[in-house]
Amino acid sequence: MDLPEKDFLIAPSILSADFGCLAEEIAEAERAGADWIHVDVMDGRFVPNLTMGPVVVRGCRRATGLPLDVHLMVHRPDRFIEPFAAAGADRLTVHVEANPQIQRTLTMIRAAGCRAGVALNPGTPVEMVRPVYPFIDLVLVMSVNPGFSGQDFIPEVLPKVRRIREELAEVNPGCLIEIDGGISADTITAAYTSGARVFVAGSAVFGHPNGPAAGLKDLRGALGHW
Ligand code: DX5
Ligand code: ZN
Repeated sequence: MDLPEKDFLIAPSILSADFGCLAEEIAEAERAGADWIHVDVMDGRFVPNLTMGPVVVRGCRRATGLPLDVHLMVHRPDRFIEPFAAAGADRLTVHVEANPQIQRTLTMIRAAGCRAGVALNPGTPVEMVRPVYPFIDLVLVMSVNPGFSGQDFIPEVLPKVRRIREELAEVNPGCLIEIDGGISADTITAAYTSGARVFVAGSAVFGHPNGPAAGLKDLRGALGHW
């Protein structure tokens, strides 16, 4: 694939980083050309895992000037919007499945000064996010069931990406489509072709045997950019 210029973003997920030296891991990803830093927040209820809270986002904020892309996999996220915004999040993405009043949450996110995103799980239909297209800056399509890094990419979500791209072109053309889960040099091209332009990658970057710079190079190389 030969692109005239870079028209995609890579957001390494720190869930796969070494937390013993998180600031160094982030700095290395930044030096290697990462566009955003993706922070996976899990509450042990919406997903079967516990990860990090605002204090970690605050640490990331000190470690980098890159946009912090915070993915809230939490039940009823409203109570956490303000603390994450205050900690330095630039983008807050909430799950449509976790929230019966999603529109209110998205409005709260923007009122807190962040970009608002909505995420949908592999089993969640496009119809669930369509009503909130006017209120968002990003749709995050999960290509694994959230909870853990290192899972296999689910290609069945790609028609959904395509459909969301077509629908957004009509009503909110500036809205980004991000894909998260199992993104690697083998899967990124299909996701790009379907319309995703922001790629979250955990194990493919921080879990790469030769380090984050090599991981980012492989991902960019798969899309024709070295
Ligand atoms: C999964 C998280 C992902 C995860 C991605 O629940 O939302 O961001 O860290 O990890 P990989 O790229 O290894 O699938
Ligand atoms: Zn994520």
